[in-house]
Amino acid sequence: MSEFLLNAHRGEGLAELSEDWLGSIDPAGTLAFLRIFASDASSPLRSEPDLAAEMGVAGLWLKDETGRLDLGSFKALGGAYAVAVHVKAAQEQRLGRPVDFAELATEEMKAHAGDLIFACASAGNHGISVATGARWLGARSVIYLAQSVPEDFAERLRGCGADVARVGAVYEEAMAGAERDCREKGWVLISDSSWPDYVEVPRTIMQGYGVMPTEAAGALDDQGICPSHVFLQAGVGGMAASVARGLRQAWGAAPKITVVEPYAAPCLVESLRAGRVIQVSGPVPTQGRLDCKEPSMVALAALARDADAFILVGDRQAGATAERLGRAGLPTTPSGGAGVAGLQAAMSDPAAREALGLGADSTVLCFVSEGPE
Ligand SMILES: Cc1ncc(COP(=O)(O)O)c(C=O)c1O
Repeated sequence: MSEFLLNAHRGEGLAELSEDWLGSIDPAGTLAFLRIFASDASSPLRSEPDLAAEMGVAGLWLKDETGRLDLGSFKALGGAYAVAVHVKAAQEQRLGRPVDFAELATEEMKAHAGDLIFACASAGNHGISVATGARWLGARSVIYLAQSVPEDFAERLRGCGADVARVGAVYEEAMAGAERDCREKGWVLISDSSWPDYVEVPRTIMQGYGVMPTEAAGALDDQGICPSHVFLQAGVGGMAASVARGLRQAWGAAPKITVVEPYAAPCLVESLRAGRVIQVSGPVPTQGRLDCKEPSMVALAALARDADAFILVGDRQAGATAERLGRAGLPTTPSGGAGVAGLQAAMSDPAAREALGLGADSTVLCFVSEGPE
């Protein structure tokens, strides 16, 4: 089961969201930060000839984000970096001079950062990134979890140094709690989504994700390969928008880029159809990380320009793909493997194959965005 949509706005974007908030991808700042606090080592890029043959394409490369910074997903690159950028600006304002990331690692700087409190709502990976970034920099974090989030995840966050606030029955209520407390207490909201008066932090997070396309394009360029197709899974769209923009910088219009969403949460597809950000409703998919009912405004604006197509995939397809990736030695979740599920869905949809020029000659790049839970 799948549904395919060609992007009629490719190249120009949406009239109502004409501002290009994302801009060019430049991973230099994120890499400088990671070099000091964690590791700027690339994640692996795996060539999977057997999977490619099974799926009926000439080549398949998987960017393996399951071990990124030992935090289990690509999200490690975003929230932590946004925290660091804020701390850096705060220290520069306090001292009245520029400060680099190496200086932020000193005990004196960390002691001053102890007054800063960062908050976000999370159902998973983003909270771990924010909590870890705050811990690295000596700041504090409060992660808002809905009651539906299991207690062992709350424990994992506490292990990363966060305080956990249980607010509301669902993610949206936890998010409202985080926003309210930030407003009232002067804390800093680190959301991975964006809306009209909240752009800078999510933009920084997406710049953090920009490490991925830079690494992937560099590794493939070294082998003389420019993939013909790319499939990118999306929740609010931050990852897909950042990767698509980075790959367009590397390869221009050459790869056909398709964004993959769950059937139960097609927030980008429906917003694109409406020409503006809208909310969708639907059940909770097993592709839980992709269960976002409203897209990031910045991501929607960027993807309206950069993505060639969108495809919706069902839970059964995403689950089967995750199992297959596990058998290939790349254990992941239905969300982590959803890009590959999108490739499979497109291959079995004649209209999608035709529109994308996808077939036996195609060389495909996907991102496995998290390890198993
Ligand atoms: C593992 C994984 N993959 C993909 C996504 C989608 O990212 P975005 O919400 O930026 O579209 C998420 C979001 O949390 C995620 O955790």
